[in-house]
Amino acid sequence: MPTTQSVHRRPPGRRGSGTTFSHRSLFLRKWLRDREGIASITPSSSWMCDELTRHIRPDRPQRILELGAGTGVVTRRILARMHPDSTLIIVEVDPDFAAMLERTYADDAPRVRVLAQGFETVGDLLPDGTSFDVVVSGMPTPNFPPRLLASLRRLMARHATDAWLSQLTEIPVVFLGLYRRMFREVEFRFVPLNMPPGGVYHCRGVRAGGPGARRRRGPRRAGLAP
Ligand SMILES: C[S@@+](CC[C@H](N)C(=O)[O-])C[C@H]1O[C@@H](n2cnc3c(N)ncnc32)[C@H](O)[C@@H]1O
Repeated sequence: MPTTQSVHRRPPGRRGSGTTFSHRSLFLRKWLRDREGIASITPSSSWMCDELTRHIRPDRPQRILELGAGTGVVTRRILARMHPDSTLIIVEVDPDFAAMLERTYADDAPRVRVLAQGFETVGDLLPDGTSFDVVVSGMPTPNFPPRLLASLRRLMARHATDAWLSQLTEIPVVFLGLYRRMFREVEFRFVPLNMPPGGVYHCRGVRAGGPGARRRRGPRRAGLAP
């Protein structure tokens, strides 16, 4: 069973994402069963992993949250880049992907923890005052209903106030408006060599009153959901 140490000994090169044939076929089978929830036919490429981990700093400890890890291709890149004293919480809702991640990182607690559940219930489990420095998301966020967008806003506002959210997309630029309405700072970086070509939205600072914000009647302005 690989440990964090062994992952660190062989950082993946640009072509070495560690994605195997069985990862690809599991991913494809999952996508055939749930196209909206998986939202991709194959794990992210090495180029996409590079861009998604732009805000992971090898030179200083960070608290890192990964949402929607799938087969763990981005997880491996995060572990290869992160400082030895950084911590990583991995969240994955699909039970088969989550079981795979739990087996892989069973020996790495408390530095690496896997939560086999939807991200929307994670905020309730975290002690008050828990705060992340970076959030990396492979989740199909634009497919989410308002309830889940509200959960993402709440999670970021409560536990990742100053953090970057690096959000995967496989449909370049189209959702720029959505993320600009949700966050004060948004930068889109194109990843043309991914298959299909995609990119990453790097977002920071949840806006009051954007998508997923709770609407109030009367003179009070809509604020962040509690
Ligand atoms: C496009 S895949 C990305 C997988 C991986 N990060 C990658 O880049 O290859 C989307 C992942 O988000 C997960 N996901 C979807 N909804 C989720 C939710 N509410 N909470 C946590 N994970 C979720 C899916 O199960 C799937 O593994």
